[in-house]
Amino acid sequence: MTDVMAPPALKRTARALISAERIAKRVQELGEQISGVYADIDTPLVLVVILKGATVFAADLLRSLSIPAELEFVSAASYGSGTTPGKLKLAHMVEGPLVGRHVLLIEDIIDSGRTVSAIARYLRRLKPASLRLAALLDRPARREVEVEIDFTGFVIPDKFVIGYGLDYAGLYRELPGIYVLS
Ligand code: IMP
Ligand code: MG
Repeated sequence: MTDVMAPPALKRTARALISAERIAKRVQELGEQISGVYADIDTPLVLVVILKGATVFAADLLRSLSIPAELEFVSAASYGSGTTPGKLKLAHMVEGPLVGRHVLLIEDIIDSGRTVSAIARYLRRLKPASLRLAALLDRPARREVEVEIDFTGFVIPDKFVIGYGLDYAGLYRELPGIYVLS
C-alpha cells in the first residue's frame, strides 16, 4: 500500500503501511503456527505481554490460538515520550510463578532489541521450561542487541510506525492498521 491516508484520529499525515486485513491474516497464521509448536505441552502456555503496545496484538493472537493459554503482563517503559528511546525502566512484573512453565513473550516491535533482552533476562531468572518470543513487527535496521525472534509478523523498514497498539506520545494505538508517521 502506498496511498497517503489521514485516519480520523490523526492530526498529522501518515502513510498506510500494513492494512488491518493483512494484520488479521498474519496474526491468524501466527496463531496456528504457535499452536502447532506447543501442541504437546501439558500445562497452558503463558503469554507474557509487554505493556502497553503489545496488548492489541496479544488480544488478537490469544484468540487465534487453539491451545489453552494464560496471560501475564510486564512493562518496560523508556523515559521520554517522543520517537527516541530513553533509559529503560522495568515496572510491572508477572504475578504467577513461571517455574517449569512454557512462556511466550509478546512484543509489538523489536527495534534496538534492548526492551525484550532486558525482559527475557528477568524471565529466565524465573526458571521457565521454555522461553520464546513473538513480535508483530521486526525493524532490524536499528538493532543494537542480538535478538532471536521465534515468531515474526512483519519485517518493516527503518520508519517510525503507529497503530494497532503502537503509539506516538501515547496516541494512535486505536488505529486498526499500521501507519508510517511523517
Ligand atoms: P527496543 O527496546 O529499542 O527494541 O524498542 C522496542 C520498544 O520501543 C517497543 O516496545 C515499542 O514500544 C517502542 N517502539 C519502538 N519503535 C517504535 C515505533 O516505531 N512506534 C511505536 N513504538 C515503538
Ligand atoms: Mg513497547
